[in-house]
Amino acid sequence: MKEKLEAIVGKTLESLREAHTPDALNEIRVNVLGKKGDLKNLMKAMKDVAPEDRPRVGQLVNEARDTISEKLDEARQKIELDQMNLRMKQETIDVTLPAKKAEIGHRHPNTIALEEMERIFVGMGYEVVEGPEVEYDEYNFTKLNIPANHPAKDEQDTFYITKDIVLRTQTSPVQARRMEQGNLPIRMISPGRVFRADEVDATHSPSFHQVEGLVIDKNITFSDLKGTLEEFAKEIFGPDTKTKFRPHHFPFTEPSAEMDVSCFKCGGKGCRFCKGEGWIEILGCGMVHPHVLEMCGIDPEQYTGFAFGVGLERIALLKYEIDDMRLLYENDARFLKQF
Ligand code: DAH
Repeated sequence: MKEKLEAIVGKTLESLREAHTPDALNEIRVNVLGKKGDLKNLMKAMKDVAPEDRPRVGQLVNEARDTISEKLDEARQKIELDQMNLRMKQETIDVTLPAKKAEIGHRHPNTIALEEMERIFVGMGYEVVEGPEVEYDEYNFTKLNIPANHPAKDEQDTFYITKDIVLRTQTSPVQARRMEQGNLPIRMISPGRVFRADEVDATHSPSFHQVEGLVIDKNITFSDLKGTLEEFAKEIFGPDTKTKFRPHHFPFTEPSAEMDVSCFKCGGKGCRFCKGEGWIEILGCGMVHPHVLEMCGIDPEQYTGFAFGVGLERIALLKYEIDDMRLLYENDARFLKQF
């Protein structure tokens, strides 16, 4: 019996030396100490031991079990330590390696164009005012002299939230909001997102951006409008840029005009870029309609003003000679990186 016990302990200690993983240890534990393990099997032979020797043999078995348990614990601790050391070695960070370069984001062409416009107008003393994108029909239309039955309210163009609330179709409602506040004179621009139920193509998108401008003061005339917008055109497209004002119609201005700039590619001779015209249409503008002033609480006998509205994408596309508006919204880094 004693020899058998010694053999079991010896064999176990030997296999412990070979075991390098927690799984291997567990297997050894089960094989020796488990229900069907070597020690249990040996105990079955107890009945063949003479009764007077049994306490002594029992003690030997206990000693053998204690030794094995102790060695198993030691082996487990050693394996854990080894694994920890290995991990420490594998996971060390080499602080002398060059760092991964952090990719810095890029300004979007729309943002560049907007910041350029803001720079120009803030330089002329304008304030930048923002307004809500979800707007009352009253501000988007009525207060801008676009009454209930006006074709500009066509449901095909406008996203209606309710009968009285729309996604603004233009930034012009911010004019009305600012005028209502009073605090004259006013010199403001208002950039922002606008919405129209348009199909997507190279020049249309259901969501795009405008920059609205408004000046209200005593003795403001059409020459102020022309001078200001001419200056703007020269700043943004170059000092040789010429401007041309064509009569147009907007409900909230009278008279109204559209401003063209001489093609900055060919200088006005006509080329592929300006489709042979020599001129490129840039914005809508006009003298604020007296009725609009009145509806917004300003006395048209004392005050006059001009307003204009520019498509921001239009400026960005022209400035960077991009021929498809969709490129601005696809967020393809290869495209955006170029600006
Ligand atoms: N809101 C006009 C549009 O969306 C643009 C515009 C034209 C704004 C003339 C103005 C303006 O303030 O005076 O087409």
